Amino acid sequence: MSTYLSGIQPSGLLHWGNYFGAIRQHIAAPAGGGEHFYFIADYHALTSSRDATELRSHVREVALTYLALGLDVEKSVLFRQSDVPEVTELAWMLACVTGMGVLERATSYRDKVERGLQATVGLFMYPALMAADILAYDSNFVPVGPDQQQHIEIAADMAASFNAVYGPVFTVPQPSISPFAKVPGVDGQKMSKSYGNHIPIFATGKELKKAVGRIVTDSRGPEEPKDPASVLLVDFLRLFVDEAELAQWKERVSKGGPGAPGYGHLKQRLVEAADAFFAPARARRDELAREPAEVDRLLARGAERARSKARATRDRALAACGLR
Ligand code: ADP
Ligand code: TRP
Repeated sequence: MSTYLSGIQPSGLLHWGNYFGAIRQHIAAPAGGGEHFYFIADYHALTSSRDATELRSHVREVALTYLALGLDVEKSVLFRQSDVPEVTELAWMLACVTGMGVLERATSYRDKVERGLQATVGLFMYPALMAADILAYDSNFVPVGPDQQQHIEIAADMAASFNAVYGPVFTVPQPSISPFAKVPGVDGQKMSKSYGNHIPIFATGKELKKAVGRIVTDSRGPEEPKDPASVLLVDFLRLFVDEAELAQWKERVSKGGPGAPGYGHLKQRLVEAADAFFAPARARRDELAREPAEVDRLLARGAERARSKARATRDRALAACGLR
């Protein structure tokens, strides 16, 4: 039986990129069978968070988001990373068989430092903790967006290094990259909390309008024929409208002429379509937010299930390297 695992950092409100690049796959995957683990990567969030109250609230929001979007907690284990402290032990054991070069080559460390994040030891070690997350549950597949692929390759390297020294303790994982490659942000770069170019999943009303209003356009008028691939708004629309509707928009944009849609028109349709797409989940989120004890109970149950598996892996690793 295959095991699937993925995590999302509670470093802000989750956005369209997180949904189409990751969460949607996480929610759909259990239908194909196998074992599924999805977690809130709060230990990882310490690499950027400095505010305890804010972090606590983001952790809760990620849990609400997954539950509201339809994660079935009978078929998937939903938990908080820090409820499974065994992963920090595993991260240490893995770090001790990993050459510096492996982490030095990680592009996300350099990117994050360039963007102004403090260059801490924790940020540098981040891929080792992520490898521990993956290996703790004997994961075969790790569904993530393309930006996380390198981290999964590092996890596979670390597993192989440990196994080469101590015998077959860890399962070597594979990435499972979302077909929705990269969801763009309002500026056309990859959508990311840390670029400030994101649109939250549950944005509605004025907030949603304002966010969509920020999507960059150029000075070409509605009548000018345009290659749809050059219109960022078309890239956004494809997330929310069906293929037939998308084909119509593309055709009208590429033909141009009188009656062709202007950018304002495309934005208006995007607001409507996105609002309707997430409306049922938004209502469930608001309901669940009124039941914090129930959310705590679900997370505690998830933690228990996750921890028993991680403990077994940790014990195997400790024994293999002579600590038991
Ligand atoms: P952020 O860049 O906003 O901090 P994370 O790094 O926490 O997002 O990503 C959480 C998950 O969402 C990962 O699996 C990541 O690959 C996916 N993801 C994030 N942004 C995008 C995007 N713009 N397009 C596709 N997937 C994304
Ligand atoms: N690093 C991932 C991110 O920023 C979050 C994460 C932590 C993760 N541990 C993981 C993802 C294990 C997949 C598997 O998105």
